[in-house]
Amino acid sequence: MTRIAIVTGASSGIGAAAAELFLDSGFYVINVSRRPCPVPGVVDMCGDLSNAGSVAELAATLSGHLTDKKPSEVCLVHNAALMLKDTAAATEDDSLSRVLQINIQAINGLNRELLPLMPSGSSVLFIGSTLSEKAVKGAFSYVVSKHAQLGMMRATCQDLMGVGIHTALICPGFTDTEMLRNHIGHDEQVIGAISAMNSFGRLVQPEEIARLIVWAHTNPVINGAVLHGNLGQVEH
Ligand SMILES: NC(=O)c1ccc[n+]([C@@H]2O[C@H](COP(=O)([O-])OP(=O)(O)OC[C@H]3O[C@@H](n4cnc5c(N)ncnc54)[C@H](OP(=O)(O)O)[C@@H]3O)[C@@H](O)[C@H]2O)c1
Repeated sequence: MTRIAIVTGASSGIGAAAAELFLDSGFYVINVSRRPCPVPGVVDMCGDLSNAGSVAELAATLSGHLTDKKPSEVCLVHNAALMLKDTAAATEDDSLSRVLQINIQAINGLNRELLPLMPSGSSVLFIGSTLSEKAVKGAFSYVVSKHAQLGMMRATCQDLMGVGIHTALICPGFTDTEMLRNHIGHDEQVIGAISAMNSFGRLVQPEEIARLIVWAHTNPVINGAVLHGNLGQVEH
């Protein structure tokens, strides 16, 4: 029987690493993002999650796949996200809406169509952040959206009681990806300072979060859990 992993944002970073590990584990893997996944063998469904119409089209195409393939299990990984530099005092509504569209509404649009088609033994995994539970300066809309993902995961867990689908919020720490580099730049001194903020003095690697994602799918006992993947952050 086919096992399907649907990973949003598998064109780079954590999503690409997760797609590769699912593929190596024998899953049929679908990437949902604007660019293709760099891993050969992953099926691309290119689309823009910042556009509600595109999300509806992607959800319909994915529904068709699930109906045709009748998978024995599905792992739906909500990984794609947008992070802007903004603040509470100066964030335009349009800008906040754009972040919420990608980080929250798109998840809802995919869940609404796909959850009813996912068999018992499936999972829905949200890739949150350390910023799902705490805030830092200058990332207002991202912090708001990542906190909302925590509520969404918990509410989804409650609404799926008895269905046999488990859920979790996986919260990476500073992970060496495009998103981090775009946010903090490429200055090695800054990277060093950020690396020093955890117990191992280095950035998390995307492959480490990928292993956590695949593990979370195969262990329903963690249903409703928040899983931290941050090498042990220094608390201030
Ligand atoms: N890196 C970190 O330090 C860190 C820390 C905590 C949490 N996270 C979380 O980890 C997840 C993965 O991020 P990453 O670090 O791996 O970043 P990344 O390498 O920049 O990947 C982000 C992914 O999101 C996709 N995406 C963004 N906007 C999209 C849109 N409008 N439509 C479709 N796809 C879109 C991108 O695909 P396209 O550009 O091809 O569309 C890309 O594949 C995110 O949820 C992020 O919040 C990361």
